[in-house]
Amino acid sequence: MATYNLLLLPGDGIGPEVMAEVKRIIEFLNKKGPNRFTYDEGLVGGSCYDAHQVSITDETMEKAKAADAVIFGAVGGPKWDKVPYEARPEAGLLRLRKDLALYANLRPAVTYPALADASALKRELVEGLDIMILRELTGGVYFGEPKTITDLGNGQKRAVDTQVYDTYEIERISRVAFELARKRRNKVTSMEKHNVMKTGVLWKEVVQQTHDREFKDVTLEHQLADSGGMQLVKNPKQFDVIVTDNLFGDLLSDIAAMLTGSLGMLASASLGEVDPKTQKRKALYEPVHGSAPDIAGKGVANPIAMIASFGMALRYSFDMGKEADMIDQAIAATLGKGLRTGDIASAGMKTVGTEEMGSAIIEELEKLA
Ligand code: NAI
Ligand code: MG
Repeated sequence: MATYNLLLLPGDGIGPEVMAEVKRIIEFLNKKGPNRFTYDEGLVGGSCYDAHQVSITDETMEKAKAADAVIFGAVGGPKWDKVPYEARPEAGLLRLRKDLALYANLRPAVTYPALADASALKRELVEGLDIMILRELTGGVYFGEPKTITDLGNGQKRAVDTQVYDTYEIERISRVAFELARKRRNKVTSMEKHNVMKTGVLWKEVVQQTHDREFKDVTLEHQLADSGGMQLVKNPKQFDVIVTDNLFGDLLSDIAAMLTGSLGMLASASLGEVDPKTQKRKALYEPVHGSAPDIAGKGVANPIAMIASFGMALRYSFDMGKEADMIDQAIAATLGKGLRTGDIASAGMKTVGTEEMGSAIIEELEKLA
């Protein structure tokens, strides 16, 4: 038996509403055992700005660093459109990612059987789909220097973004990819554009070397990111783990998301380095969706993305694969019974609110326990 300490950061809008359902799952797990979860809560985003004029406090940052995992809701909303740029709600999330050095972003795309018709693609293409997009999150063109707009003085301006990757950055993300694949279907597809980008040349080379040195048992394929995008829509089930850089990963993970249906269903994890002293990996788990101001306060948000994100915490931070599987099964069973929140509503199904969906999932968990 172990005790794990979580930091819950519900944030703004529907964040606190969906986080409430995670708290009930934590309660369930504490009752069931063997492990025990304790948690602290903090403010982040606009609600933190209202209280402290910053989007996250140093004190909360320290708690995030000390926690075994951070569980994050969502931030932002029109109320904070006019706050200074450095204090805008998203800055809190960016600081967490940066200060915890969360370089590996895991975005699963899973089709629940009951929702296979909600996909943008035909049922047979997505039925049983279970792929993992692994996006490098702290390097590449979003952060590379120089990053400038210069006035050329002749009525023209020049904008420059720089894509930079060092060997160690590619090595560590590919290690995560191969380790994930070993626990899944043992296949990694690396995507870059070595035909037109130097970072692509190095990316391909380092992924291959890491494979040959440490992960020969895993099948490795390379695809150019553009045709990879096509393949993702044409025949998504050919993939297991896709590993790619920050920019391509941003695009490809959004494409993969739409193979499976609503934003309210999509979970994610962001992982950092393993601390050599404690052997613990820094980690933050959050739904892909934002604070959904249009439905906030109404109790109708879909809590599944948030609950599934917590399920990822069980799997990747706490080695509780069995409990993580139970959560996935409970979600599938609840959908199978015909319960739907508004975002995934369809004819003949029962539309429920956030709390009712949470209760139904816990009911299924009780059956599985
Ligand atoms: P959004 O994801 O909040 O909402 C997009 C649409 O999806 C809305 O119609 C919303 O009602 C719906 N939706 C999202 N999550 C849902 C759920 N769990 N259940 C049911 N419906 C759901 O994205 P949007 O509207 O672009 O941004 C709203 C605010 O959220 C902005 O301030 C934005 O900056 C912020 N945002 C924050 C993110 C984060 O905290 N990681 C990520 C994306 C946006
Ligand atoms: Mg995006």
